[in-house]
Amino acid sequence: MIHIRPQDKVFVLTGSGVSAESGIPTFRGVGGLWRNYRIEEVASPDAWAQDPALVWDFYSMRRSVAARAKPNPAHLALADLEKRLADRLFLCTQNVDNLHEQAGSRHVLHMHGELFKSRCDTCRRSPFPDDSSYEGPAQIPRCQCGGKIRPHICWFGEVPYELDRIFAALRHCTVFAAVGTSGVVEPAASFVAQVRGRARTYYVGPEEPVNASDFDQCFQAKAGKILPTLFALA
Ligand code: OAD
Repeated sequence: MIHIRPQDKVFVLTGSGVSAESGIPTFRGVGGLWRNYRIEEVASPDAWAQDPALVWDFYSMRRSVAARAKPNPAHLALADLEKRLADRLFLCTQNVDNLHEQAGSRHVLHMHGELFKSRCDTCRRSPFPDDSSYEGPAQIPRCQCGGKIRPHICWFGEVPYELDRIFAALRHCTVFAAVGTSGVVEPAASFVAQVRGRARTYYVGPEEPVNASDFDQCFQAKAGKILPTLFALA
């Protein structure tokens, strides 16, 4: 159990494992990935430059999988935690699905972007809601400026979104909990090392993450099983 005191500020980092029980495959670990695609081949600026149709095939497939998914007890538990902690909770996700929002979380920082948004690869037009499927070369959507419309996703080699807000929240947190993330992809993998010694640090997931030694305690279980009863508020 994680005891939360009245003065605590809680930072929760979620990864693809939190959505596994909703039927969205993880990238790594048991049962991981999207087997027909190597993520590095379809999630990078180089891939976009070389074969945008393949990139849209991949993200169209992910949109259709995510569109069918429903939040699981882990997402619901975190939405409930937000109700109880209000702005003492900072929820940061590497996930691009919208299951935290569907569960009722109102403040979610999507550091790797959002699957149901697109943006122009050329002009500064803001990202916009988009749940369309674009499959095949003829389907690549175009912006009014002539640029190509791309998924609003942070690819390998790009800088994750809103890092200033994330680092400010990390500086202030006293409890850090990572849920369902293998501890491989930076910068999220290093968040725990930054708060260690200052904040109490916890991991939740069925397998040990690569950075397990940075956590005070690992709860080795599925998120949907453990999160609903994990947090005890004083
Ligand atoms: P990974 O696929 O690397 O790790 C998923 C983790 O979830 C593994 O450690 C599993 O053990 C764990 N897991 C599986 N089922 C679980 C369950 N029911 N409850 C809790 N945990 C479970 O996913 P991430 O760490 O999120 O980036 O990957 C980080 C980034 O790598 C992704 O955001 C994505 C990918 O490349 C981009 O697309 C930019």
